[in-house]
Amino acid sequence: MPKSAQKNRQPMLFDELRREPEGTSPIARELAGWRAFGKRTAYSTTVAAGASGRIVVDTFTNEYWSSAQRQGHGLHEVSYRACFKPELPAFFVERLTRPGDVVHDPFMGRGTTLLEAALRGRVPFGNDVNPLSAMLLRPRLSPPRQADVEARLAALDLGACEVVREDLLAFYHPDTLREIGALRSYLLARAREGTLDAVDDWIRMVAVNRLTGHSPGFLSVYTMPPNQAVSVAAQLRINEKRNQTPPRRDLRAVVARKSKALLAAVSDEDRATLAAVASRAVLSTAPANATPSIPDASIDLVVTSPPFLDIVQYKDDNWLRCWFCGIDAESVQITMARTVDAWAASMRAAFLELRRVVKPGGHVAFEVGEVRRGSVRLEEVVLPVAATAGFQPELVMIHAQKFTKTANCWGIGNNDKGTNTQRVVVLRR
Ligand SMILES: C[S@@+](CC[C@H](N)C(=O)[O-])C[C@H]1O[C@@H](n2cnc3c(N)ncnc32)[C@H](O)[C@@H]1O
Repeated sequence: MPKSAQKNRQPMLFDELRREPEGTSPIARELAGWRAFGKRTAYSTTVAAGASGRIVVDTFTNEYWSSAQRQGHGLHEVSYRACFKPELPAFFVERLTRPGDVVHDPFMGRGTTLLEAALRGRVPFGNDVNPLSAMLLRPRLSPPRQADVEARLAALDLGACEVVREDLLAFYHPDTLREIGALRSYLLARAREGTLDAVDDWIRMVAVNRLTGHSPGFLSVYTMPPNQAVSVAAQLRINEKRNQTPPRRDLRAVVARKSKALLAAVSDEDRATLAAVASRAVLSTAPANATPSIPDASIDLVVTSPPFLDIVQYKDDNWLRCWFCGIDAESVQITMARTVDAWAASMRAAFLELRRVVKPGGHVAFEVGEVRRGSVRLEEVVLPVAATAGFQPELVMIHAQKFTKTANCWGIGNNDKGTNTQRVVVLRR
C-alpha cells in the first residue's frame, strides 16, 4: 500500500499564506477564515503517495465546534462506544446538502449522522455490521409519546421470569435481573411473532442504554461508563474492590425516566420533520462493502467514521447489549485491522461501494482518528484509497480541542491509544 510521501509541513496561520486555498471550494474558504472560538485556522498540507503521483491536499486545523459537552439535540443522548458528537455531521449536512437530500453512513454505530440528518429534514440511509445499530437508531427516527411508553411499561408482566443467567448477578440484584429477563423474553417473542411495534422498539432502545452504568439511573451496580460492559470476571473484581453488591433497581422506573429525558428534547416541529423523512429511511445490517439495499447513485452526502484499526473492541464492549437483544455477538463480523495495510484494504472495499451509491458531484466526509499517539495518520491512508475508487480529494479538516475527562470516559477521546483530534477527509465523487 502507498506510504505517505512526507510528514505534514509545519502548520502556519492561514492568514499568513496570503492566498486562497487550492480549489477554493466554499467550505475550504470558510474553514480558512474560521474564528468561532477565538482562534485562527492553522494551515498545512497533507501529502500522500497516490497510484499516479503525490496527492497534496489543503489541511485546516482549528476548533470547529464547541468543546462544551452535550450541545447537540437531546435525542442523541444514547451512549455508544467511539461515537462522534452531532456537531460533526451537522457541520457537513448544513453545508453540503439541502432538505430532502439523502445522507448516508455505512458505519452508522448509534446513528449520530443519520439522526442529525433526519432532524434537519434529510433522508437517512445507513448500515452497520452490528444489528444493534439499527435497533438504537430506528426508534429515535419515530419517537413515541411518553404516555404510551409508560402505559406499555405498566402493562408488561415483569414478574414471571426466573433468573436466566446466574453470571449476570455480578451486575444485577436478582429481582432486577428477573425483570430484565422478562422484558427480554417479551421483546424477543414480539420480534419473532412480527408484532414488535414502535413503542416496544423504543423501550428496547432505552433499556439497552440502561443496562450498565455508574449511577442509580442504570439497572446495574456501579460499573464502567454505559457505552461498554466489562466481562463478568472484571465486574466481580470491581465489586470486590468497591465492596459492593448489586442494589435493587426498578426496571420500569429506570426506563421511564430515561425515556422521558430523551422525549423531552423532541418538539412538535422535530416530530413533523422526522415524520416527513423517517418512512423513506433505508437502514440495514450489512458490511460497508456490500449494501445491496442502497440504489446506485442515490446518496448526496456520506458522513462516517469507520473503526480505527483495532483500537476499539466493539464486540467485547457490546456483549451484554447483544445478549439482551438476542444478537449472537460472535457472529458479527466487525472490521478489526491489526495493520495499516489490512485497514487500507477494508477501506478500499468500502470506498468501491461508496463509488456505486454516491451521486456524481456528491460528497464524502470521512472521519479518522489520530491513532497510535499520532504516529499513524489515517487520513494519509484514506486519500490514495479514495482517489483510486474515483473520489476527488477536496480538503482535510482537523478539529482540535482539549478533551475533557468526561469526553474520555464516554469514549469520544482516548488520549493514550485513540483519538485526540478529529481528522476529516472531505472528498467529492
Ligand atoms: C466508530 S464507530 C461509528 C460510530 C458512529 N459515527 C456514531 O456516532 O455512533 C464504527 C462502527 O462501525 C461498525 N463496523 C465495524 N466493521 C464494519 C464493517 N465492516 N461494515 C460496517 N460497519 C462496521 C461497528 O459496529 C461500529 O458501530
